[in-house]
Amino acid sequence: MSLPLDPHDLRAQFPALRRTVDGQPAVFFDGPGGTQSPERVIDALSGYLRRGSSNHGGPFLTSRETDAASDAARAAMRDLLNARRPEEIIFGQNMTSLTFSLSRAISRTWQPGDEIIVTRIDHDANIAPWLLAAEDRGATVRWLDFRPEDCTLALDTLPALLTPRTRLVAVNYASNAVGTISDVRRVVELAHATGALVYVDAVHYAPHGVIDVQTLDCDFLACSVYKFFGPHTGVAYGKYELLDSLTAYKVRPASDEPPGKWETGTQSFESLCGVAEAVEYLASVGGPAGSRRERLVRGMEAIRAYEATLSEHFLRGATRIPGLRVYGITDVENLAGRTPTFAVSLAGRTPEAVATYLGERGFFVWHGNYYALAAMERLGQEPEGLVRIGFVHYNTTEEIDRLFAALAELAGRDL
Ligand SMILES: Cc1ncc(COP(=O)(O)O)c(C=O)c1O
Repeated sequence: MSLPLDPHDLRAQFPALRRTVDGQPAVFFDGPGGTQSPERVIDALSGYLRRGSSNHGGPFLTSRETDAASDAARAAMRDLLNARRPEEIIFGQNMTSLTFSLSRAISRTWQPGDEIIVTRIDHDANIAPWLLAAEDRGATVRWLDFRPEDCTLALDTLPALLTPRTRLVAVNYASNAVGTISDVRRVVELAHATGALVYVDAVHYAPHGVIDVQTLDCDFLACSVYKFFGPHTGVAYGKYELLDSLTAYKVRPASDEPPGKWETGTQSFESLCGVAEAVEYLASVGGPAGSRRERLVRGMEAIRAYEATLSEHFLRGATRIPGLRVYGITDVENLAGRTPTFAVSLAGRTPEAVATYLGERGFFVWHGNYYALAAMERLGQEPEGLVRIGFVHYNTTEEIDRLFAALAELAGRDL
């Protein structure tokens, strides 16, 4: 049993959630595109700038404080991901930039005829860097498909795609378009059996569940703090031996060791202050007892259980809106297989028209492909894409009921 979560208590910590649109409370259903931040994160960012910022590594007060802030952010991310050591955590501009940088280093040893596997369900940030690296090195790209009926990864086809020449499998933990959670542990087992590395995109999964890189045994995993209530900063985990042995594209005076060799240029130190606080916030959801990792595990389990109630509420109610089609897993008995992120279409309306109609009424939702280009192509939804309605733990069933009323009105029916 996980801790019960009271969204109203937690919501009070998020100033942005008090916003209104035409006198109505704004409804933030755009979490998969970026989440709001609690006061403690905002205070951490402004506090750093107010106290005095500095570059790192100097023998004076503000520089020492900057070093301490970076160390605290790294320790916090180590706890969130359950990395073995803090040096396995790298910060950077965002997940996309980190993945381009790591992919360039990882692919240096690929030979013509080597193979890599990418999936059709991934965000392009975990596809394009690998396609480009494969092109540079003459490697062959194989695609792991998903089943369009329920948008689950066709993992049964992975063994046939893997060969002794497979060097890397890039897979997401959860889809930012349709919310499917993939069995990353199984992907790693299969890939490692043939000697391939696994690069996991956990950007969409991170706000929704516990991540444990040691249990997954993945080689790399990337996420983005602005998707879990913090500032716009990217984070990558890599196994120490790999981060140590790979050649980084870096300037010569920078450290030759992880994590420094991977952190090009000057970090956003104010953001790193916010990273530590975003992790502290998630730990606070797990209550006061135990280590920070224990509190994080409890907090994320509570978030996951609460979000399942939102998904169930949404899926049951969605059947009452005429013409509303939900893509991905719709079986309320299988909520463990998805996050509360729903790609939908409404008959007779373009995704843009639906998102605009909702936006004018204070519901913040995205439309298009949200860079899950391959997934939208596979679903036959390019170029218009779908409307994406995404919940996080600060959303409520009352907000979902208001959404249903607005959608029913748009569909021209009373609920
Ligand atoms: C699943 C997924 N992967 C990668 C990214 C890219 O992350 P970033 O904006 O940090 O580059 C996103 C952003 O939407 C995402 O949802």
